[in-house]
Amino acid sequence: MHSLLQIYVLIISALISTAFSSELKLLFVIHRHGDRTPIQCYPMDPYSNASYWPDGWGELTPVGKKRMFGVGSYLRKRYQHFLSDNPREVRIRSSGADRCLETVALVMAGLYRPEGRWQWSDNLGHEWQPFPIQTEPREMDGMLNSGSKCLVAEQELTRIHNSPEVIQYVNQRKAVLNYVSSNTGLNITNLTAAEEVFDTLLIEKENKYELPLWVDEHTYHTLSQISDMTFYFDFSTKLIQRLRTVNDLIPGDWNSECQNTGLSFASKTVMPYMFGSLLTLAVMALIYIIYTFLKPKNREIVYQMLPIR
Ligand SMILES: *[C@@H]1O[C@H](CO)[C@@H](O)[C@H](O)[C@H]1NC(C)=O
Ligand SMILES: *[C@@H]1O[C@H](CO)[C@@H](O)[C@H](O)[C@H]1NC(C)=O
Ligand SMILES: *[C@@H]1O[C@H](CO)[C@@H](O)[C@H](O)[C@H]1NC(C)=O
Repeated sequence: MHSLLQIYVLIISALISTAFSSELKLLFVIHRHGDRTPIQCYPMDPYSNASYWPDGWGELTPVGKKRMFGVGSYLRKRYQHFLSDNPREVRIRSSGADRCLETVALVMAGLYRPEGRWQWSDNLGHEWQPFPIQTEPREMDGMLNSGSKCLVAEQELTRIHNSPEVIQYVNQRKAVLNYVSSNTGLNITNLTAAEEVFDTLLIEKENKYELPLWVDEHTYHTLSQISDMTFYFDFSTKLIQRLRTVNDLIPGDWNSECQNTGLSFASKTVMPYMFGSLLTLAVMALIYIIYTFLKPKNREIVYQMLPIR
């Protein structure tokens, strides 16, 4: 699951059904950022020199840019008959990470190439138009940053990491963790530290940098599994799910509209949401929306997870 090549777009569309037909009324798009460079390297990393990463640390790469522009073009093709050319029909909320802001700018460039009156100059104005992208400082962004400042969530995460289940999981992998520690120059005692090493190795591999010999198949595979399990454990209790996911994913005014009025909530709107990380959040968002907001009998929710390659 945790691969940069597996970038999913979650499309939630609300349909109003009559006896004979369905009409698409609302489109809600949730996606991750495109391919990025490592957040950091480990001390003995042969590729720790910044010259290997001209994009900077944790930043979007040219491959990632191309991919996310492609996502926008794909959405335009798929929803050609639902969308108009008017960029004002869209609301955008992004995580404040540079890679996310750049990503959503690219998705929108692919989705709303200026047409007609929206072409604002002879050259660039035929290819691209600006979009307002709303965001919040990352440490305050409880909606899209699962690492935002939240004392209770931090305590819950510590509790999870100290639970018998996680401690046993770590202990059973002590040999690999010690082996990785001695070859990386780190002292890896918890899952998060191991996950971070795997993230770096994964990206180096995807960038065609040959991994050092100590990264044999078994080690790579084990780290990959640990990485998946880290994401699982970190969101494994009801409390942390409630604190770290999507309490206010749908803006308040939509919320009351959804609950109080029959069919009217669906002005034609697209909302590409950017998650700073973690596909998990997108899945939870979906479940939350379906169960909390969209109960009325005369609405159907259609959703699809699309892997974007
Ligand atoms: C990083 O690479 C650059 C360019 O190859 C080189 O000039 C520099 O000395 C390297 N830095 C380190 C710390 O190795
Ligand atoms: C690694 O960290 C643990 C816990 O912080 C510590 O007990 C241990 O001595 C450290 N090991 C090394 C080799 O530094
Ligand atoms: C994991 O260990 C690192 C040091 O290796 C430490 O900085 C970090 O806070 C630990 N994370 C958790 C969740 O315990």
